[in-house]
Amino acid sequence: MAHFPHPAIAGKLEALAEQDRQVAIASLLEQDPTRVERFGVEAAGWRLDFSRHLLQDESAATLLELAGAAGVLEDRNALFSATPLNHTEGRAVLHTLLRAQEAPPGLEQEYADVADCRARMGEWVQRVHDGRHMGHGGERIKTIVNIGIGGSDLGPRMVVEALRSYWVPGIDVRFCANVDPDDLDAVLTGLDPHSTLFIICSKTLRTEETLYNARAARQWVLDAGIPEEGLAQHFLAVSTNLEAARDFGIPEANILPLWDWVGGRYSLWSAIGWSIAFAIGMPRFEELLAGADAMDQHFRNAQARDNMPLWLSLLEVWYVNFMGARVHAVIPYQQRLAYLPAFLQQLSMESNGKSVNHRGQRLGYDTAPILWGDVGTNGQHSFHQLLHQGTVLCPVDFILIPGAAGASEGKSRLLANGLSQMRALMVGRDLEASQRSLEGRGADPVRAAELAPHLVIPGNRPSSTLSCDALTPYSLGALLALYEHKTFCSGRIWQINSFDQWGVELGKEMGAEIFAALDGSGQSFDPSTDAALAGVRHD
Ligand code: F6P
Repeated sequence: MAHFPHPAIAGKLEALAEQDRQVAIASLLEQDPTRVERFGVEAAGWRLDFSRHLLQDESAATLLELAGAAGVLEDRNALFSATPLNHTEGRAVLHTLLRAQEAPPGLEQEYADVADCRARMGEWVQRVHDGRHMGHGGERIKTIVNIGIGGSDLGPRMVVEALRSYWVPGIDVRFCANVDPDDLDAVLTGLDPHSTLFIICSKTLRTEETLYNARAARQWVLDAGIPEEGLAQHFLAVSTNLEAARDFGIPEANILPLWDWVGGRYSLWSAIGWSIAFAIGMPRFEELLAGADAMDQHFRNAQARDNMPLWLSLLEVWYVNFMGARVHAVIPYQQRLAYLPAFLQQLSMESNGKSVNHRGQRLGYDTAPILWGDVGTNGQHSFHQLLHQGTVLCPVDFILIPGAAGASEGKSRLLANGLSQMRALMVGRDLEASQRSLEGRGADPVRAAELAPHLVIPGNRPSSTLSCDALTPYSLGALLALYEHKTFCSGRIWQINSFDQWGVELGKEMGAEIFAALDGSGQSFDPSTDAALAGVRHD
């Protein structure tokens, strides 16, 4: 069983955590006017305020010491080189290359391949936008349907929604992921096969859900009277598995490559992001890339003290390994970032939901927390009760766009709500204030005294603020790269491989076995599964 690395530093952090657990965050801010400045970082147009945390100066300094001992900032260079960082699959990890503005030394060929692929991506987008690429019957393409799941869905889906105000007129982009036919049925509702273009996104083209949906979409097009030879007008593909794409009947010219040095959850910057480019146009897609590259350069060059991804990671390690938090919430106060928590779930939990270290030793310490969240203000009417009065320590990343506040009363109310939630989590309301509040509402003193304990808000609940002036392709790209690099940093400190996902294999294998048993063959698994199978009707 592997203990938390760097035991001397870990021991200091454990002792410091005992102190910081008791500290009053509001008092830290009142006593030290420089705290907001010192516990803040700026990068690529974003500002991180981490002053509202159960974290005193000595703990912050010791976390930086941990990062130094872990060699995180030395290791970051591997993200910009052909080092096989993903050692269990023997692969480099080069999603930064997809947005690089120049070829890193030794990666000139890969850089050229990316540029070629992006040029082909842009040609297709322009042809569809210009009406030069049409459906089999000569109709203009009106709808793009992305068929993919996990990293072949969550990133593009989230970005397309986030950048809705940048959509090119006349093009609608939809997403289908689930093997449940109700998903594709809903996506295709109201669409005309003659003006619909599908993108089959699958790094492996062996993913059951995507293959099933691709076949169903193909049949939907054929059922509309479009002949086999017309399918090329209605299907594109993105995959490392070019042979499987061709076998599906998609011509080479309609297939864009992917490479094994791009992890699925890190792939929206590649041709997996084709649906994004169809939605917002190639120039805006390149702004998204530029924002991510700006955050890459910040991550690559900033000293530890001023390194935004590193601080997000050190806060995660602090709460998970020393403060006992097993959950982490991301709450964007921006409706268009509604899919961001789901995207970050795969990024963080599929990367760092591990329990074995680089050397194959079982871990004696925790790794990735449960990442969850929803947009504000909606969360205030569902889970904020728990955040304010529950018994769970749940650090929150609030994402705000203050620059939008002046645009309308609604945006001003959105910002005011976000700021009030952070403040309420920190300040709370004690028994005396609760009683005064009740009396202020007309309760008699006896009833107010009875009820007051139910109104107490403990407060002292930690949160960070990530803010920028506007939600643009550039600022979104920087935000997503920020969380990618945070994930990398935490993985290095936990000494795990953030870039494989062996944990998803067993379920897939068992799924195939159980699917085969649905034909009533009577194969037995275990009493619970057998009981469930017994309920399956064999028509
Ligand atoms: O969940 C496992 C996984 O392999 C993810 O890592 C990946 O993003 C998803 O399935 C889809 O894989 P593919 O793009 O190969 O269809």
